[in-house]
Amino acid sequence: MPEIPVSDLTEAEAAEELTRLADAIAAHDLAYHQADAPVISDAEYDALRQRNAGIEARFPHLVRENSPSFRVGSVRSDQFSAVEHGVPMLSLDNAFSDAEAEEFDARIRRFLRLDESAIAYTAEPKIDGLSASLRYEGGVLVRGATRGDGRVGEDVTANLLTISDIPRRLAGEGWPDVVEVRGEVYLSHAAFAELNAQAEAAGQKTYANPRNAAAGSLRQIDPRITATRPLGFFAYAWGEVSAPFAPAQWEALAQLKAWGFATTPQSRRVEGAEGLLEAYREMEAARPHLGFDIDGVVYKVDRLDWQQRLGFVTRTPRWAIARKFPAEQARTVLMAIDLQVGRTGAVTPVARLTPVTVGGVVVENATLHNADEIARKDIRVGDTVILQRAGDVIPQIVGVVASERPDPPPPPFEFPGTCPCPLATPLVRETTASGAETVVRRCSGEFACPFQRIEHLRHFVSRRAYDIEGLGEKQLAAFFDLGWVREPADIFRLARNIARLDELRTLDGYGETSVANLVAGIEARRAIPLDRFIFGLGIRHIGETTAMVLARGYGSAPAFLSAMDRVAERDPEAMEELDALDQVGGAVIEAAAAYFGEAHNRRIVSELAAELTIRDAEAPRSDTAVAGKTVVFTGALERMTRDEAKARAEALGAKVAGSVSKKTDIVVAGPGAGSKLKTAAELGLTVLTEVEWLEMIGDAPSSEEG
Ligand code: IVH
Repeated sequence: MPEIPVSDLTEAEAAEELTRLADAIAAHDLAYHQADAPVISDAEYDALRQRNAGIEARFPHLVRENSPSFRVGSVRSDQFSAVEHGVPMLSLDNAFSDAEAEEFDARIRRFLRLDESAIAYTAEPKIDGLSASLRYEGGVLVRGATRGDGRVGEDVTANLLTISDIPRRLAGEGWPDVVEVRGEVYLSHAAFAELNAQAEAAGQKTYANPRNAAAGSLRQIDPRITATRPLGFFAYAWGEVSAPFAPAQWEALAQLKAWGFATTPQSRRVEGAEGLLEAYREMEAARPHLGFDIDGVVYKVDRLDWQQRLGFVTRTPRWAIARKFPAEQARTVLMAIDLQVGRTGAVTPVARLTPVTVGGVVVENATLHNADEIARKDIRVGDTVILQRAGDVIPQIVGVVASERPDPPPPPFEFPGTCPCPLATPLVRETTASGAETVVRRCSGEFACPFQRIEHLRHFVSRRAYDIEGLGEKQLAAFFDLGWVREPADIFRLARNIARLDELRTLDGYGETSVANLVAGIEARRAIPLDRFIFGLGIRHIGETTAMVLARGYGSAPAFLSAMDRVAERDPEAMEELDALDQVGGAVIEAAAAYFGEAHNRRIVSELAAELTIRDAEAPRSDTAVAGKTVVFTGALERMTRDEAKARAEALGAKVAGSVSKKTDIVVAGPGAGSKLKTAAELGLTVLTEVEWLEMIGDAPSSEEG
């Protein structure tokens, strides 16, 4: 039975619905956390919470004391032990068109400075499963783990051992003493159909697609259940190795095969951009006949020495890209538009849809981004919309089917003026530095808004930020509900609060050991590297990469914090200094100024900092001629590309800046250098040619040159 849209509920219906939702959400929380047997998907669960929030927004006086809005839902329990990957398991950047594939090739040639000869690539099917890392020592499988967040995965060795494609012992010879083989666990179409047929016959829930089924099968607590699922494994990469075992990806694949792994027979070695495009067409044609799901083609630079030179950009390699197949589309009806509040208070409209299957999964919600987007596409509640889903990308509404609009037409969507949080604070439209209105609407409640506070704290304890052992989202939610943890510093105060800890020992699920572990977990994070400290603050536009840039740029917490105070006061020198950092632009500066401009944020940060020992940014190398120097490259470089020069300079402990200022130590100027060179001359800075620079860093070409 379709739900009544929130906007149509009478007050009596709303009250009843809130009771129903509170009970349902509590029951699902229990099923999820205690019984480890969720009965609905994450998306369905989110929808329940959103509906609850939507109703509360319309009828603030009906908000229940035990409203689920005041509790935090959370992620999986820790049923498997954590495995830290020695070499992180990265993801891939995506390309969606021929042009983007060609640009990938062009980018690589530019970076490597290769003009004429075509580059060799491997083109491999992108298997739509889940990746796993298998560690072999002395040729014997010692541990297998899921990818997790790329840095820490779950130990699923027993389950992986049930997969017939995974050798317990490596075959042949020539394997390094330590080698981590990586690849994809997947379920074939036939096995998927069989599994779902069995589930259906037994009256159990079926899986939405082969990938979910593979993930569910691999994460069984009982490996005997995994053993009944005919999972497959294709090897395509590796992590830690004690010795190199191939000069190129193509040979590496052959080696993996020789050691007893399955590799995808459709993989090819191709040359140049043309080869990339051709391989894509072939894979597209082969796709329906493969018998397992693929969602694109992975291109990798074949030569491993070139891969090494190309390196990485934060979480993705520069030397590989995934060319994705186009998104699948479907039609469905838009039933309601609800508002969702994010960590930074941005309020996003979310479409509630009549459930529809697209790209193998059932979609019930889709983001509508912002009010302008809704107006631009003229999306109205009741419309039939075209929904699109590409891979694991969030489903999007492409547009409206005009001919299907109900008669009389529903009114255009009006953005509510208040936040759906129980405080119903007025929403403000964000403005840019110059005063222009942006599309973003924010809840002005900040830390007073329970959604924002919770989202901030969630971010704070997340794996990439503080990652406190024993303080997952579940525990955080409980402490939040108890009123013990309302801001980051509270976490560290809790660890010292003897009375609280005594009380905690009396709570369900806690005992002497778990409290001791929690305290140890918190204490272990009291010393935190500067970049994580910055990232943990959850400032808009300051993700991991930018946090690292800021940490390296300022060096220490006192330097960073006092600079931010000055940025908040819009001190021109401080702003210029920030702007001069590589990859830092207007959005970051504005976000930092806004964040530190708020008195309560400054208080929260300084109370947090008082609890911590913040480690200075990892000291860049100090034993080189350019260590600690700020370098600006300008004009054309002839022996290496700009990116390569930058990477090399940073590896030697230099800072690379984008603009010339008093703080610049060295300007490396090539042919065509313009205003930066002029500024350098005016400031009387050291200006070097490219060859002089290379001599300085000891990378000089043979002597008769230059
Ligand atoms: S290579 C550093 N090769 O795609 C790059 N990944 O979006 C490591 N995948 O996490 C990945 N087929 O789960 C690679 N032939 C293939 C792949 C493949 C599927 C998956 C893998 C990875 C994701 C990245």
